[in-house]
Amino acid sequence: MLELERVSRHFGGVRAVDGLDLKVRDGEIVGLIGPNGSGKSTTVNLVTGLFSLTSGQIRFRGQDIAPLPTHMRLQGGIARTFQNIRLFGQLTVWQNLWVAQNSPADRAKRGFFSRWLGGQSGVRDEIVSLLEFSGLAHKQDELASNLAFGEQRRLELARAMATKPKLLLLDEPAAGMNSEEIGQLRERILKLRERGLTILLVEHVMELVMGVTDRIAVLNFGQKIAEGTPAEIQKDAAVRKAYLGGDAAAAEGGS
Ligand SMILES: Nc1ncnc2c1ncn2[C@@H]1O[C@H](COP(=O)(O)OP(=O)(O)OP(=O)(O)O)[C@@H](O)[C@H]1O
Ligand SMILES: [Mg+2]
Repeated sequence: MLELERVSRHFGGVRAVDGLDLKVRDGEIVGLIGPNGSGKSTTVNLVTGLFSLTSGQIRFRGQDIAPLPTHMRLQGGIARTFQNIRLFGQLTVWQNLWVAQNSPADRAKRGFFSRWLGGQSGVRDEIVSLLEFSGLAHKQDELASNLAFGEQRRLELARAMATKPKLLLLDEPAAGMNSEEIGQLRERILKLRERGLTILLVEHVMELVMGVTDRIAVLNFGQKIAEGTPAEIQKDAAVRKAYLGGDAAAAEGGS
């Protein structure tokens, strides 16, 4: 599904990502962890096209996507959520999902205005089902900026889903959540995989990443220092050292 080969991104002298090899196979949930500043968000930004590569290759479903702008990667099936929530605050929950609808087939068949006026039933049904999936049905007419923090995170995930992705990149979706919300997020992520999605999960919350991923890659200073199953990663000496040098609490939280 996704293949990074010797991928690097430097900012001046900072090697944010440095020679990273990473594969995410069809239907997998892969975790990407590492101390603060280790290059996780930069990796997500490289895959979505927000940043250009300094060197290396990124292939999505066998195709070199480096030349493609972000919107074409999105249309091709790569969606993401942001570490810092980005919603249209002055639009309602419903509208946030409506503008994200991404169906090339729909677009070809009918134009913007017919969708706008008719609220085409296919589109409507999809939004309704996304609202139910996210537990936001009762908030559909609320402005996004009025939602509680956890609800905003749910809406952001729903909006990413509205684009009908094949690959979903989640950048710290559990940040700031309480443990009940983390449990619900875990269930949602597993349901998305059942629906055939492939997921790259960037996360500091070990409770989530250890419980939901098939495989985890660990970054430190832009380089991959370990890769393996959650159980292997928990035992890995290099990983423990990287975390204890940085965010000890996060490493201890999951074990
Ligand atoms: N746009 C940018 N310009 C300059 N330096 C950047 C930029 N984005 C990231 N960096 C640097 O690249 C390195 C990796 O940052 P990145 O945001 O990818 O880390 P991260 O692993 O996501 O960290 P966190 O866990 O804190 O979110 C850091 O040293 C950061 O300061
Ligand atoms: Mg980050």
